[in-house]
Amino acid sequence: MNPIAQNIEKLKELFPEVLVDGHIDFEMLHQLLTGNLPSADEQYGLHWPGKSEMLRSLKNMHEDLSKTNHSNGFRFPEANNLLIEGDNLQALKLLANQFSGKVKMIYIDPPYNTGNDSFAYSDNFAETREEYLKKQGKRKKSNQINASASVENGRLHASWLSMMYPRLFIARQLLTDDGAIFVSIDNNEAFNLKLIMDEIFGEKNFVGEFIWHNRTTPNDPGTGFAADHEFIFIYAREISKVRFKGVPKDLSNYKNPDKDPRGLWCADNPSAASGSDSYRFPIVNPHTGETYFPPQGRFWAFSPKRVEEWTASGKLVFPKVKGKNFLLKKYQFELKSDHKPISSVIEGILTSSGTKEMKKIFENGSPFKFPKPVDLIWLLIEQFTQDGDLVLDFFAGSGTTAHAVMAVNHAQESFRRFILVQIAEPYEPESTTYRDCYRFVSHLTYDRVSRVAAQFKEIDPRQDKEQIYGFHFLKLSDIAQNS
Ligand SMILES: C[S@@+](CC[C@H](N)C(=O)[O-])C[C@H]1O[C@@H](n2cnc3c(N)ncnc32)[C@H](O)[C@@H]1O
Repeated sequence: MNPIAQNIEKLKELFPEVLVDGHIDFEMLHQLLTGNLPSADEQYGLHWPGKSEMLRSLKNMHEDLSKTNHSNGFRFPEANNLLIEGDNLQALKLLANQFSGKVKMIYIDPPYNTGNDSFAYSDNFAETREEYLKKQGKRKKSNQINASASVENGRLHASWLSMMYPRLFIARQLLTDDGAIFVSIDNNEAFNLKLIMDEIFGEKNFVGEFIWHNRTTPNDPGTGFAADHEFIFIYAREISKVRFKGVPKDLSNYKNPDKDPRGLWCADNPSAASGSDSYRFPIVNPHTGETYFPPQGRFWAFSPKRVEEWTASGKLVFPKVKGKNFLLKKYQFELKSDHKPISSVIEGILTSSGTKEMKKIFENGSPFKFPKPVDLIWLLIEQFTQDGDLVLDFFAGSGTTAHAVMAVNHAQESFRRFILVQIAEPYEPESTTYRDCYRFVSHLTYDRVSRVAAQFKEIDPRQDKEQIYGFHFLKLSDIAQNS
């Protein structure tokens, strides 16, 4: 018997009064222990109609996933890039068999639930309008909510959350121990998303969010206030193991005017804001006898024994005349790192450049609305992954993530791999020219990734470029038929 089952048996012995048909009624147990019946309204966390049902299905799915025969023997080609056409929940389940613990970075750009975007899902966790309204009808009687707009709005949030939850849940399992997921989102669902991600990944694994300043000329929604940023939430599989590359420090103030043999240096502040009384000792200039103390309320940034050592080595330099301060040199070689952490604000990359990039790839305008700019995903990939890492995007859209992976691979002579998933969503293009070419968004994804791969194959001199820029295109419908 597993430890949880053993503990449940112990609870049954301790509290026989809460046994109903041989099972523990946990609500009754809670009431017995606390004197209160837990009400969903009073529990911390985000609740929505349909959540319990979704969690029950998730539990069953989780049990299914732990059975090894889930894939019926199907295996993805592991050493290559993949583009999978199909619903991402089905794809994630299949990928979980083979890639659990192997994906370093997941980037997703799900539908933002603006009310205008269509989002496609084939699972039945999300409630239909009718089911939702039926439940709301029941509630209305008890608390007299009557606003149909807010009810309708609630349904959209509930559907979106029930769609995202199981996908994020499996995504977490795919991550390596030092891996992380990056999720683009705007104000419509950002704060709901944060709450479910806290639940799935654990609050402590929230790395932070990028604020991406993505527009310079936002529309005025009539309030005179316009959001011109989006968020990218980052959650780690295990926060203690993640590491961003960071950005190079500005070292331009390190110079060597006195030809110091230890190399470049800059003037350091010899005093600190905090310390103890033993760090307020006098320092005597060996040339002039002048005595120095730290400024009022401050402390020396080093101990007394350092003064002799650093005077001898030339790190502390005393003036030969009275009335001048001594110099403390900070050498470039003493820096622990030549990088500093990356800022959480991303500037200088605009949404509009995503469209411009598409226009360069396709002749008749951009065949996809608001693709993410390659530079944005490049930045994330460059910051977070290394040669050999695997990057997954299961809301692939036009395939910007694959484009960015290939661009970084070319620039850094690396072989990071990508897996993209895109559903065969019927195509609703910007330009009618493209409606004739692509029946489904996944066809456009295939075409863009092929075109970009061909461009890189042309200019990359490496022997293994076929493998680096090549990719397998797999349809979940074919996999299901053949297995
Ligand atoms: C906002 S777009 C992603 C855009 C992408 N980042 C780009 O730069 O082109 C979201 C995409 O997710 C796809 N999608 C929505 N639901 C899906 C599902 N259940 N499975 C797979 N893809 C889905 C949509 O068809 C859409 O192309």
